Amino acid sequence: MSEKKSEGHPQLRSAEWFGREGKYGFIPRSWMRSQGFGPELFDGRPVIGICNTWSEFNPCNRHLRDLAEHVKRGVLLAGGYPLEFPVMSLGEPMMRPTTMMFRNLVSMDVEETIRANPIDGVVLLAGCDKTTPALLMGAASCDIPSILVSGGPMLNGRFRGRELGSGTDVFRFDEEYRTGQLSKADYAEAEAAMSRSAGSCMTMGTASTMALLAEAMGIALPMNGAIPAVDSRRRHLAEDAGRRIVSLVRGGVSISRILTRPAFENAIVVNGAIGGSTNAVVHLLALAGRLGVPLSLEDWDRLGNGMPCLVDLKPSGRFLMEDFYYAGGLPAVMKRIADRLYLDARTVEDGTLADRLVNAECYNDDVIRRMENPVSEQGGIVVLRGNLAPEGAVLKPSAASRHLMAHRGRALVFETVEDLRARIDDPDLDVDENTVLVLKGAGPVGYPGMPEVGNLPLPAKLIAKGVADMVRISDGRMSGTAYGTVVLHVSPEAAIGGPLALVRTGDEIVLDVPGRRLELDVAEDELERRRAELTLPEPHFERGYGQMFVRSVQQAHLGVDFDFLVGKSILKKSQESF
Ligand code: FES
Ligand code: MG
Repeated sequence: MSEKKSEGHPQLRSAEWFGREGKYGFIPRSWMRSQGFGPELFDGRPVIGICNTWSEFNPCNRHLRDLAEHVKRGVLLAGGYPLEFPVMSLGEPMMRPTTMMFRNLVSMDVEETIRANPIDGVVLLAGCDKTTPALLMGAASCDIPSILVSGGPMLNGRFRGRELGSGTDVFRFDEEYRTGQLSKADYAEAEAAMSRSAGSCMTMGTASTMALLAEAMGIALPMNGAIPAVDSRRRHLAEDAGRRIVSLVRGGVSISRILTRPAFENAIVVNGAIGGSTNAVVHLLALAGRLGVPLSLEDWDRLGNGMPCLVDLKPSGRFLMEDFYYAGGLPAVMKRIADRLYLDARTVEDGTLADRLVNAECYNDDVIRRMENPVSEQGGIVVLRGNLAPEGAVLKPSAASRHLMAHRGRALVFETVEDLRARIDDPDLDVDENTVLVLKGAGPVGYPGMPEVGNLPLPAKLIAKGVADMVRISDGRMSGTAYGTVVLHVSPEAAIGGPLALVRTGDEIVLDVPGRRLELDVAEDELERRRAELTLPEPHFERGYGQMFVRSVQQAHLGVDFDFLVGKSILKKSQESF
């Protein structure tokens, strides 16, 4: 191309589109002007993409169009040019087989939309569980200046004088309904009482966890995780993010300058203190993989180990996200654990974590506990290994029962999710409270997509007897709002021939959380014999995205990303540079 380039801000990528003379400048400017934009917007100012996961199929994110307007206001005030764009949205309660099957696809949507367009920096609008990691992963692969703005949690649920937590109380209600303790009419009324505003689940589920961990890593503004979705202060936070991103672009501060190894370590420690979701494990591993930050499953145990859970929120505790905001939110938590954090980690305010904590205060010691009075001594995630999980498995001690942490029991095996659903309430099921429930076929390849079925429902006949928890093991995930003594993410999974595939009903299984062991007590020669007899299930898909997914997905201990997406690549100035 021999045409003259913009001399205003030659360092900005968008100038390659909007700053050119001749037809290569005329075309992008002319078509953008069809939207009513004036010529002054093409003077070399930073172009800010606002990546929106709004969708009516995703009620948690339904207010993000409104929030985008506030981001735009901030961008304009700071002298940038905001342009909003949609990407695929993942609504947890709707999508089948599981939203996790589409996290990587959304990340590709984000990455390729940024690459193909004149975008200098991006504000990521996310909320419902997978939208947060998906957008961060996409932006990370482009290594572009980025800020995450979360949709925020919904208002606390309320039902007949009782507070209801998203997800967590569904599991309780379901048990009460299945055993006749709750009528059909009451069950229906509770539906409306639980979800009564825009926003994500207001328990410490995956959405809250990921919004808070993004805040902990400095890629979102302070209070990003806690401000309720419908609180006016979230709109102001969005406006602030709009201002900040313009400044990050001008300073050339890309996402990899913020999401560093210390930022990930901080996130793992914080995850322990907030009693965060087990899903954070796969999401942070995948995100680190995109950035080339070394992070392993072992880091979760090593860094989170000994971190008490301080935040008393369901499912591990009593309160909900509104209470958490009023108590001081994440800055108050981080101040309490400041000696365990890298305080010099950089944030999107272009300061350090230490700057954020100066004015942090806790206003309610019941919701955000003191170190000497934790919700549980052991927050965080425990990583188990053994002949049943050679590449690891995870368990969340704060959601588990103390009396089951060292347990030996007889396995009751369900070969598939369908098998589980068909038999779990069978009155003739040979099961008691010491039985270890084992589910196969719920891993990344198996279901596929690694659904949140790991907290297997307890058999109805045992619930009726008052049994509240049992050891459950699977290669699947668990909703961040769920609880129980549940061993998850067993790797390698059964569907690709991992040892989980060899377990049979009646085998003895040993769970030893203090010793970090998960063992199948069956002689090695017998396991060899079973391995030789094993037939793997047929792949679920013969074409399309599903086929690409099962061919390319990595196992849980690597974050369930596609093998070909690991790593980042330099954002070229324009497509013509390919
Ligand atoms: Fe969307 Fe829980 S269902 S955040
Ligand atoms: Mg969830």
